[in-house]
Amino acid sequence: MKSSIEIQRIEKSKIDSVDFNNLPFGSVYSDHMLECDFVNGEWQTPVIKPYSPISLDPAAKIFHYGQSIFEGMKAYKDDKGNTMLFRPLDNCKRLNKSAERLVIPQIPEELFMEGLKKLLEVDDAWIPTNEGSSLYIRPFMFASGIGFHASPANEYKFIICSAPSGAYFSGKVKVLIEEKYARAANGGVGFAKAGGNYAAQFYPTQLAIEKGYNQVIWTDDNTHEYIEEAGAMNIFVRINDTLITSPTNDRILDGITRKSIIKIAEDSNIDVEVRKITVSEVIAAAQSGNLKEMFGAGTAAVISPISGFGYQGTDYDLPELENSFAKNLKKTITDIQTNKTEDPYGWRVIL
Ligand code: PLP
Ligand code: COI
Repeated sequence: MKSSIEIQRIEKSKIDSVDFNNLPFGSVYSDHMLECDFVNGEWQTPVIKPYSPISLDPAAKIFHYGQSIFEGMKAYKDDKGNTMLFRPLDNCKRLNKSAERLVIPQIPEELFMEGLKKLLEVDDAWIPTNEGSSLYIRPFMFASGIGFHASPANEYKFIICSAPSGAYFSGKVKVLIEEKYARAANGGVGFAKAGGNYAAQFYPTQLAIEKGYNQVIWTDDNTHEYIEEAGAMNIFVRINDTLITSPTNDRILDGITRKSIIKIAEDSNIDVEVRKITVSEVIAAAQSGNLKEMFGAGTAAVISPISGFGYQGTDYDLPELENSFAKNLKKTITDIQTNKTEDPYGWRVIL
């Protein structure tokens, strides 16, 4: 980092116009944002400034060649007023992994962490205190440098902004197992949090919504025989009392929630298998009554139980369990995140 962060505070906060008891996901934005430019081969002094539109040249390569990556993380408040983050360095490391794949410069960990902490200090009042809500944080980087030549830009922007948010999904999630489209392919960018991965999901998801589903369950691009992700979440399937999740690969995002759940489940003596999941075993388990649960896991949605799924024109319902893995795991992970329980893993970072 060139020098310490410059702070320009907003003249009048808009916080009084926000209903914290009725927060949609990611729709109202906190007063400030952090912005840092990469020019002449180095990151410049980051600035925390009032949240505002940014001005870009129409020839900026983000618009033409989609060099754009992001992260999703959350800040929480406990009842003593402490601010907590959950495994924030993992987000920084994954941003840099995505950056490498998209030929975007690496962001120094110190800049990321210091910038994030300072921004949260400045926007402290925006971190919700009510149960089930948190401050969703969106760090992102993109090519601001110009040119129609199809090659990496020479200038980039790193921005962090945030949105006090409630639940990502309201209600039950019904999914469609995808038989034709794929969100990612071997050798591609599926493992990176590249904006284009999400753009590629919109059309198949729209088709699924038109058929009455909320999300697509992504299958492998080659055979569509293996279950890989649930929309913008990692997928977990419970057959009898075994919890199964797909191993990460080129096509799957290495989710921080996913790896935390694997660890918590193993430590709770749940039988966990990290292995390929076939569509046919899930159908067979649904037919025999052995399919107990399916859920998605990710920062935005935390743990999102799936109520049923469609495949080849047939709908399968999942039972409603009193003592579900999803419910218990969600409680443990959110209790760790919000400082309601011990954190034996050292995942929680109190600011
Ligand atoms: N898979 C995809 C495609 C995602 O976009 C996300 C969201 O970040 C996840 C999985 C879950 O990752 P994490 O738990 O790190 O948020
Ligand atoms: C997250 O879970 O943080 C994500 O990035 C998913 C996003 C597409 C809302």
